[in-house]
Amino acid sequence: MNAIDLLIQDHKLVKKLLEELSTTTERAVKKRGELLHKIEQELQIHTRLEEEILYPAIKQAGGKDEVKMYYEAKEEHRTVDSLVLPDLLHTETGTLEFAGRVKVMKELLEHHIEEEESELFPTAKKLLSKKILEELGQTMETQKKMLKGEQRAA
Ligand SMILES: [Fe+2]
Ligand SMILES: [Fe+2]
Repeated sequence: MNAIDLLIQDHKLVKKLLEELSTTTERAVKKRGELLHKIEQELQIHTRLEEEILYPAIKQAGGKDEVKMYYEAKEEHRTVDSLVLPDLLHTETGTLEFAGRVKVMKELLEHHIEEEESELFPTAKKLLSKKILEELGQTMETQKKMLKGEQRAA
């Protein structure tokens, strides 16, 4: 599978999980915890695939605009991974505070996904050949399997 299709598939799954999580109520304590854990695991792998495989390829093939895009996208990752998600993981799932934080995380991620799909990915398609995107996709698939294995073993 080519790199872009693989990442878009991940986006679909994360958006679905976020939608599910945001429709739960304070009573769904266990379900909220499970969904959040699943989102955390999916994002962990997805972000690594982007930051270690696709983003560097775009940065290297592009010019100043691509470098700016690269840093903006990385900063959006950091906001979720280092600030929003850790806070959420320490919030009681049966509270309204949890729901508020989920809403903010969902908005941030939807914005980020939208920007990737409308700017970053089309740029990647312009700068990188079909063959390269296939190769990157293959590397991603291998890496993904390995990381999933690590998550299961943890
Ligand atoms: Fe991303
Ligand atoms: Fe993404």
